[in-house]
Amino acid sequence: MRSKRTKVTHPPEVRLPPDNRPLVAPIYQSVKFTFDNVEETRKYFAGQRDGFYYSRVSNPTLRQLERLLAELQGREACLLTGSGVASIAAPLLALLKSGDHVVYFAEMYPPTRAIIGRMLRRFGVSSTMLSIDDHDGLRRTLAQTPTRIVAFESPTNPVLKIADLARLTAVAREYGALTLLDNTLAGLHNHGQYDVDIFVHSLTKFASGHGDVMGGAVIARRELIDAMREDLGNLGPTLDPHAAYLILRGMKTYFVRWDAQSANARRVAEFLASHPAVERVRYPGLATDPGHRLAAQQMSDFGSIVTFDIRGGLAAGSRFAEALQLFEIAASLGSTESLVLAPAMQQPRGFTAQQLDWSDIRAGTVRLSIGIEDADDLIEDLQQALAAASG
Ligand SMILES: Cc1ncc(COP(=O)(O)O)c(C=O)c1O
Repeated sequence: MRSKRTKVTHPPEVRLPPDNRPLVAPIYQSVKFTFDNVEETRKYFAGQRDGFYYSRVSNPTLRQLERLLAELQGREACLLTGSGVASIAAPLLALLKSGDHVVYFAEMYPPTRAIIGRMLRRFGVSSTMLSIDDHDGLRRTLAQTPTRIVAFESPTNPVLKIADLARLTAVAREYGALTLLDNTLAGLHNHGQYDVDIFVHSLTKFASGHGDVMGGAVIARRELIDAMREDLGNLGPTLDPHAAYLILRGMKTYFVRWDAQSANARRVAEFLASHPAVERVRYPGLATDPGHRLAAQQMSDFGSIVTFDIRGGLAAGSRFAEALQLFEIAASLGSTESLVLAPAMQQPRGFTAQQLDWSDIRAGTVRLSIGIEDADDLIEDLQQALAAASG
């Protein structure tokens, strides 16, 4: 008879009968997985059998989320990371070596620019930053400098410029460069039809949807994911199974939320476009938006981020953000609640005048992330805050 001390470390096992399944897949919150004997363990290591061994490298809950996201994005394989920025760093670290060159854009998320322009430079990877609108500059750079990766976003954060995906991927392919698209703002269901090699996503945003979990995904053809997986297993930025479970749960309502948020965003964009305190609205769903034609071709919908310039610049932008009652002043985007980023919170640092011009972030640029609240309530809140900001 085993002692109580032993029993608490080896509690009774509960196995389900083969014809009796949980409706919601369990969370495999286990770091370790065992095989029956050494020979089976050896076969696993030799790639001669399927299975799991250590959750830093693979885990059944993560595998389920990986399969779902790969299918949504129309690619073979997926690798999960503990945050969106880790999903950007992961392919860059795994696929680049000293002497390589990367092209990236001034319109990108600041940490992405820091990884490519500052961090990778320390490891002998050079880079060129362009504007996403500069098609001639991209061709010229690729023709002059052999380039391993072209990294870009569409829509860009925060100004929502739309990259010409067919054109950009074709020129990168012509010059033998891989393309890496941070597709976070477009959602997990858009852009799969384009010749993009690597998609990355912050799952912290629309996938989880409730602002209570962080995660990232790299989605690509199997050969590229396999090339990254070993290095990443050694570096260890993996997602926790409980976080994967929360994201899987969030994914069940992904389209319901996405559609509701997009419909609200359109209402908000139309309202702002007609308001005298607003200098300019950027929302690709508006027919007047410079990116509308491309976005309508490339995407099935236009998302839930609306960016605008308030008259009166930084000061008016702060007054506006502080006067809002429903919208919270907070980082991130894509959750059920509406958020605002005041102009002072998103001015690029260390940009030249030309790069600032490319970024198109102006003194009064405000970013709104639209949630699933009632659209009339959101518009009423925006209306009173605009009045307070200009009063
Ligand atoms: C476009 C884009 N990519 C990546 C990230 C980073 O995601 P995370 O905060 O999950 O690291 C963000 C976060 O705001 C983002 O907006």
